[in-house]
Amino acid sequence: MLAPTLLVSLLAASAAHAAPFFSVSSAPKVLAKRAETKTWEGHVADVQIHESCNASQTVYLRNGLNEMKALAEHAHDRILTLGETDPLYVKYFGNASSAAASGLYAQIVWGNKPGVLLRCDNPDGNCDQSTAEGKWAGHYRGSNATEETVICDRTYTDRWHLSSLCWDGNEIGVAPASHWLGADLLHRMMHIPSIVYHHVEHAADSYPDVLALAASNSSLTVYNQATFQRYALDAYARDVAFPPNGCVGASAHLPTDDDDAHSHGAASSSASSSASATATVPAEVTVGEASATATAAGSCHTHGDGEVHCE
Ligand SMILES: *[C@@H]1O[C@H](CO)[C@@H](O)[C@H](O)[C@H]1NC(C)=O
Ligand SMILES: *[C@@H]1O[C@H](CO)[C@@H](O)[C@H](O)[C@H]1NC(C)=O
Ligand SMILES: *[C@@H]1O[C@H](CO)[C@@H](O)[C@H](O)[C@H]1NC(C)=O
Ligand SMILES: *[C@@H]1O[C@H](CO)[C@@H](O)[C@H](O)[C@H]1NC(C)=O
Repeated sequence: MLAPTLLVSLLAASAAHAAPFFSVSSAPKVLAKRAETKTWEGHVADVQIHESCNASQTVYLRNGLNEMKALAEHAHDRILTLGETDPLYVKYFGNASSAAASGLYAQIVWGNKPGVLLRCDNPDGNCDQSTAEGKWAGHYRGSNATEETVICDRTYTDRWHLSSLCWDGNEIGVAPASHWLGADLLHRMMHIPSIVYHHVEHAADSYPDVLALAASNSSLTVYNQATFQRYALDAYARDVAFPPNGCVGASAHLPTDDDDAHSHGAASSSASSSASATATVPAEVTVGEASATATAAGSCHTHGDGEVHCE
């Protein structure tokens, strides 16, 4: 509380400052006419779905994009509300900047997305490719179209809706994060240059590696895609889907959920962890760097999940 005498003198001081602006007739007009908020022409809030996607694919993908936004917005809001001392924040981000962590989620939800596109017409022919584990689920188009992501048919048959989080053993750290459609699309958006400006890397991928990164190299967590996926799922599980404790699986300490084992240059140690994937994970998502196909461009990496990631 301000003392009354101080308050009076502050009011007097502000009145004294204000007076010249309104009494001097030559005051610049811009001071009086400035709008309270700036709006930018052409801000595109949503990812576009290409006309090559039919009606049912469009509904499915729009729903998935909404789930992606729900995950990211919830993560953003939890970080802004509970800050850097929240034990869940520390678990995934260590002592890294909460402004950097919340800001990435904000870019996903509110960032400008002109030209960012999901398409269903398989323009690069990669949906026809398969590994021993199954056909590709989708891929970033890389230098062929830097804002575009191709969604292949497998996405419609083996991804889970957010409502399945914590049901029937669908636990965080046991199932691959990208099995939830919303978290899968979150990952795909982290390859789009106009959204994340190449700042997101793969420093740690499996669940135990993500936690180890927070404990020992936490400055890297705010650049690590798997950290953003796991934190968003865990926060949503604890606060929305299965409060208060969420559903990190009892076996999550095993390197079983590593569906992103490939190197983007930041670190390469994670590729080996997928080799020890166990039978608790569906076979088609356990293979890592070893499945890279010869047909991918030299600067691209193929996941066991069927995704191609290009620099
Ligand atoms: C859209 O395409 C998928 C995959 O080809 C197909 O299974 C589905 O029946 C199609 N839906 C409509 C409305 O045409
Ligand atoms: C880019 O296009 C070429 C030619 O169609 C194709 O061989 C290549 O796989 C595409 N790259 C990606 C990342 O899809
Ligand atoms: C932390 O970084 C150091 C140096 O880059 C690396 O040797 C180590 O493996 C990293 N630890 C984790 C858990 O990523
Ligand atoms: C942040 O954590 C790292 C270890 O991950 C530690 O070396 C560093 O001193 C910590 N910084 C602060 C400000 O606590």
